[in-house]
Amino acid sequence: MNKEIIILGIESSCDDTSAAILNGRKILSNVVANQEIHKQYGGVVPELASRAHQQNIIPVVDAAIRKANIKKEEINAIAFTNGPGLLGSLLVGSSFAKSFAIGMDIPLIAINHMQAHILAHFIDEEKNIPEFPFLCLTVSGGHTQIVKVESPNNMQIIGTTLDDAAGEAFDKSAKILGLPYPGGPLIDKHAKNGNIHAFTFGKPKIKNLDFSFSGLKTSILYKIQDGVKENPNFIKENLESLCASIQHSIVNVLIEKLQLAIKKTGIKQIAIAGGVSANSYLRNRLDVLSKTANFDLYIPKFEYCTDNAAMIAIAGYFKYLDKDFSQQSISPSARLFF
Ligand code: KG4
Ligand code: ZN
Repeated sequence: MNKEIIILGIESSCDDTSAAILNGRKILSNVVANQEIHKQYGGVVPELASRAHQQNIIPVVDAAIRKANIKKEEINAIAFTNGPGLLGSLLVGSSFAKSFAIGMDIPLIAINHMQAHILAHFIDEEKNIPEFPFLCLTVSGGHTQIVKVESPNNMQIIGTTLDDAAGEAFDKSAKILGLPYPGGPLIDKHAKNGNIHAFTFGKPKIKNLDFSFSGLKTSILYKIQDGVKENPNFIKENLESLCASIQHSIVNVLIEKLQLAIKKTGIKQIAIAGGVSANSYLRNRLDVLSKTANFDLYIPKFEYCTDNAAMIAIAGYFKYLDKDFSQQSISPSARLFF
């Protein structure tokens, strides 16, 4: 192995405990432990998430180091998610990272989770990467943003959601349909054979580059309630087309704002990131649009779309190059901006 800077990344912002090792930009390991426990509750239960992180963190880090086939003494720095996220969950990862940094006498690097989603594009990639400046549509369970990325360590949010995030819109719609959490991937799956025009829902009327999904969610709820009132089997009989129409409506909102951002900034290097960027319909629509609207589209590898520690490690790598290290007194924040 040609040894460069070796970073251990730790992600624990929500319900995935993850550890990854990067050698420069090259991935050596990326271990993710999903927390199945939340499924039965229809959403993430914060206290259960913190406890599961507490149970998972040591075995997950151990597995990442063993899989990478390195010794822990070879690690040059540890990067961890400092927010945004669930505070109890963040505290588990940050406490572990601080102890590891002290114990191994290596730098500690605090990472913004949303910036890390964007930097996931640079994991293992030398060629097929966006040129700076680029625009990134960052869509996850907690956030929906359009970010102007000037460099790995310099980015600005130019549009954001005023209420729900796109992932939330997927998950809450799925819940109304009786699908388990997280519903986004299930809507994606059921939508494949549905008719996108079967049902129409209210469109948000927000000016500028900001998003809103709460009106759309209410419109979906009312339409389904009305349908069930008339026919108790409404959901079962229309599941595929309901999923396709809901997905179409959410994706339309995202694409409309992204097009406006391209028009306003003149930037034609476009990336997507975050859990919702795993959505196949969003990917296909953007792929088609990139050809007609003439922009370069960058989609991260599937495994780096949803929460993972490889993205924390790559963000740590870029900060390491800038010697942007954190103090031991740093404390994670549930609401962290950049
Ligand atoms: O980035 P992420 O893993 O965690 C957060 O930082 O929130 O995003 C999770 C979100 C969930 O809302 C999940 O339903 C959504 O990403 N998601 C999807 C798909 N895969 C994950 N939404 C739509 N289609 C998918 N294929
Ligand atoms: Zn995330």
